[in-house]
Amino acid sequence: MTKNSAYDPNGKGDATIRLAADAAGLAVAADLLRAGQLVAFPTETVYGLGADAQNGEAVAGIYAAKGRPRFNPLIAHVDCAEAADRLAVLPPALERLAEAFWPGPLTLVAPLRPGAGISDLVTAGLPTLALRVPAHPVAQALLRAVGGPVAAPSANPSGRISPTTADHVLAGLAGRIAAVVDSGPCAVGVESTIVASEGEGLRLLRAGGLAAEEIEAVAGAQLLGAEPGKITAPGQLASHYAPEARLRLAAARPDADELFLGFGGMPEGAEGLDLSPTGDLREAAAALFGHLHRLDAMAAKTGARAIAVASVPERDLGVAINDRLRRAAHR
Ligand code: TXA
Ligand code: MG
Repeated sequence: MTKNSAYDPNGKGDATIRLAADAAGLAVAADLLRAGQLVAFPTETVYGLGADAQNGEAVAGIYAAKGRPRFNPLIAHVDCAEAADRLAVLPPALERLAEAFWPGPLTLVAPLRPGAGISDLVTAGLPTLALRVPAHPVAQALLRAVGGPVAAPSANPSGRISPTTADHVLAGLAGRIAAVVDSGPCAVGVESTIVASEGEGLRLLRAGGLAAEEIEAVAGAQLLGAEPGKITAPGQLASHYAPEARLRLAAARPDADELFLGFGGMPEGAEGLDLSPTGDLREAAAALFGHLHRLDAMAAKTGARAIAVASVPERDLGVAINDRLRRAAHR
């Protein structure tokens, strides 16, 4: 597809612009964000739907475009830890994680700093703020150009599969946002891991692209709430990441009228896609949402009854993969 061209599938003139991830495209994206517009952009986890976090009207636009419940707070994205420190008061345990893992696929939840100027809609009225410093060079360049915090949930309609390409973003939000910066597929592929401090300890609020094991190695202690199925950020509704097709988990093989999402090899005769033929969890995480998008489209075309999904080991990035699969399967 051509870069910097208007995406207007319905010819209605309510176009969303696809911007190249070069200096010119990023300058336009930064101008739009500073003017209070909504711009989707790549991070190493998933594409985010950005708005100026200090502009309440702009942030309200995120909730409207996504159809997102107002009680579900947003992550503020900044270009460096110093910028994060200006917005929230990070206790020492979180400072250590910031030092070890920022920039990267980690979001830290800490008390909001008085006078930070963050819109109440970002925190949904909570006394805490979720902060992330993404590592993706395009996200970094964009945040530096904007020069202030950018609120950004995943750039999908609320409750649907998160986007790992600009095409996914446009499929869900074209006509509802000003632009998307296209930088190809996201390397990590699942959303950031979310951690908050609790007393002396650390609590895992969402499993994600940074394995809990890695965090525990730096923290020198186990994360609270790291038991599968016990993770609770306000946005962690049971039904989420939902494809149109039904999902059947922990399947050894597909039934006659099912597609198959495999891990570490496909059963003979199965029709579908393999998350990682070699059983590599990082590769599987990077492929997860793209494969779900593709299998969903295949199911709609072929009339398949469901997508059967292979078991994925519950360790390392497998914890985040299984969390997303359970939510996608929930009806
Ligand atoms: O990888 C990611 O984190 C992506 C990219 C774009 O950065 N963003 C993302 O945002 O996944 P979203 O809005 O889809 O998920 C944010 C999660 C929600 O579950 C929300 O409830 C939680 O963060 N959250 C935000 N602020 C919070 C807070 N103050 N306390 C606890 N949880 C919070
Ligand atoms: Mg999301």
